[in-house]
Amino acid sequence: PAPGATPAPGVTPAPGPVPELFSWEFATDPYPAYAWLREHAPVHRTELPSGVEAWLVTRYADARQALADQRLSKNPAHHDEPAHAKGKTGIPGERKAELMTHLLNIDPPDHTRLRRLVSKAFTPRTVAEFAPRVQELTDQLIDGFLERGEADLIHDFAFPLPIYAICDLLGVPREDQDDFRDWAGMMIRHGGGPRGGVARSVKKMRGYLVELIHRKRENLGDDLISGLIRASDHGEHLTENEAAAMAFILLFAGFETTVNLIGNGVYSLLRNPGERERLQASLAAGERGLLETGVEELLRHDGPVEVATWRFATEDLVIGGERIAAGDPVLVVLAAADRDPDRFDEPDVLDLSRRDNQHLGYGHGIHYCLGAPLARLEGQTAIATLLRRLPDLRLAADPADLRWRGGLIMRGLRTLPVEFTSR
Ligand code: HEM
Repeated sequence: PAPGATPAPGVTPAPGPVPELFSWEFATDPYPAYAWLREHAPVHRTELPSGVEAWLVTRYADARQALADQRLSKNPAHHDEPAHAKGKTGIPGERKAELMTHLLNIDPPDHTRLRRLVSKAFTPRTVAEFAPRVQELTDQLIDGFLERGEADLIHDFAFPLPIYAICDLLGVPREDQDDFRDWAGMMIRHGGGPRGGVARSVKKMRGYLVELIHRKRENLGDDLISGLIRASDHGEHLTENEAAAMAFILLFAGFETTVNLIGNGVYSLLRNPGERERLQASLAAGERGLLETGVEELLRHDGPVEVATWRFATEDLVIGGERIAAGDPVLVVLAAADRDPDRFDEPDVLDLSRRDNQHLGYGHGIHYCLGAPLARLEGQTAIATLLRRLPDLRLAADPADLRWRGGLIMRGLRTLPVEFTSR
């Protein structure tokens, strides 16, 4: 068994050495290690690079159950943090920064109240009406590199698209959006931890959002921040701090995820030419069905969120036969669950027309991704437009030379060099 593991009676100890987690090879391709864990240690206690010990849940059935288990709290106050790790865990919110009291760090009833309020402002209709703008942004970004015949699809395309899209949606004036681009760039390059430049960027972003909320209050528009200010439920409103934290989580949760959906998605298509050609032919015939099932499959097969955000046991409980003590952190490994052969036929195969595809890429339960309609819109628009406008798009690097970001939660490429015939 793994060091530190406490197998419950009846659970067979794992044969052979536990594969190395969190190494460089693991960041490049974590799937073999996850297959091993699913099979031999499906609920596995391990030491994270930060020194914190946490349980990794890798089987689909356990993962789905854990995501919906109300005994697992999102509030970091429930973490039984060892003294040596105090303040160094990298768990967002443990330092109680003002922006950290947001949907992903709170439980019912606060979560229920805030989620209901934001759902009134951020509706599927808001997203549907936004489709022409997403198309326009997508085309403008492609125009920006079309003549070069080559691009880094992360830097030139996947990174700016969601940041401009969310800024537009929130109502951040265009002339201020490049500041957001810089702050977000700092956060994505250095991870979410509250350190150095990242802390400064978060602070600037917060200051800006609070001020923007003040300004909007004087002059409400039809943007999402005005919607958040307007939203009320049985006479309840968001406080100014809650509105700022909400705007921040929308930016934060909707940004790197979408970068990675586009990056990982295009990369998967380039490495599966048969599937890519099938999609291209279907788009050329004016169909959307394969695009829609295809983006879901890209999410299942190599999705942006490798591990769901932190959860903490509020009481002693059992997951998949393992005893978890109150205060222990539990990490649900979405990327492992979504390749579970007990749930998906041939899980390692990319099949864009996969029908039975209830993947966990957007989570499950009360914290299910609030931005899923927007993510789908952006993912589908980005991928369809790239394939239509750059029909001979190809990878301009040896896959072995590509680097992955390697954080705990997100999975995404640092760069994605491509070439194509400019026209
Ligand atoms: C929650 C995935 C895009 C806003 C989540 C969760 C996942 C996820 C897995 C649940 C995390 C957990 O339970 O620990 C994704 C993926 C995306 C994406 C794969 C893109 C491809 C977006 C976008 C937005 C957004 C575009 C908004 C603009 C949120 C919010 C939550 C959330 C606010 C927290 C919901 C809650 O706690 O009630 N997302 N997301 N996401 N997502 Fe997304």
